[in-house]
Amino acid sequence: MRAVYPGSFDPVTNGHVDIIERAARVFDEVIVAVAPNRGKEPLFCIQERMEMLSEVCAHLKNVSVDSFEGLLVSYAERRQAGVIVRGLRAVSDFPYEFEMALMNRRLNPSIETVFLMTGAENAYLSSSVVKEVTALGGSIDGLAPDLVVERLRLKLQEEVRESEP
Ligand code: COA
Repeated sequence: MRAVYPGSFDPVTNGHVDIIERAARVFDEVIVAVAPNRGKEPLFCIQERMEMLSEVCAHLKNVSVDSFEGLLVSYAERRQAGVIVRGLRAVSDFPYEFEMALMNRRLNPSIETVFLMTGAENAYLSSSVVKEVTALGGSIDGLAPDLVVERLRLKLQEEVRESEP
């Protein structure tokens, strides 16, 4: 069975990596699909997000990285994936995930959404938290892959330089 794990991954965190590794054990093939999220202004462009994901997933032979625009179910259909994987963290994720899963099922009932519970250590981790802590000079070691920690640091330095008069 081929599964799609969609998200904005801006940037990928250890919480996402945990879900990807576990999904790779459950499904024959996992496509990590980077999507533009209409409601969020991204820090990294799609290409940068895909590069980081590809490096982080290089050890997983049945995982590939891709991107898509438009409806997730249409993308899953095109890639002949029967499952959408989503990670569930705190209870607060539930209403949003429930709504998306129901809408996706309505759009295509043959595609199932499967939820993996996040590891307890990642329950309150998010890409926004990782970005904010880095921007304010805190350490995110252990919360994101080393290469992401470094890319994030460089990106935020670049942003500060660009905003200087
Ligand atoms: N560990 C750590 N953090 C996690 C996580 C985990 N296991 N799972 C989710 N998150 C975080 C992400 O870091 C992200 O944090 P942020 O808001 O601080 O950036 C947040 O949870 C949710 O992000 P993500 O999982 O990337 O999902 P998303 O909400 O950005 O993306 C899409 C949702 C892309 C899947 C959805 O918008 C979509 O399907 N778009 C395509 C258009 C479409 O079909 N729309 C109709 C859908 S019904």
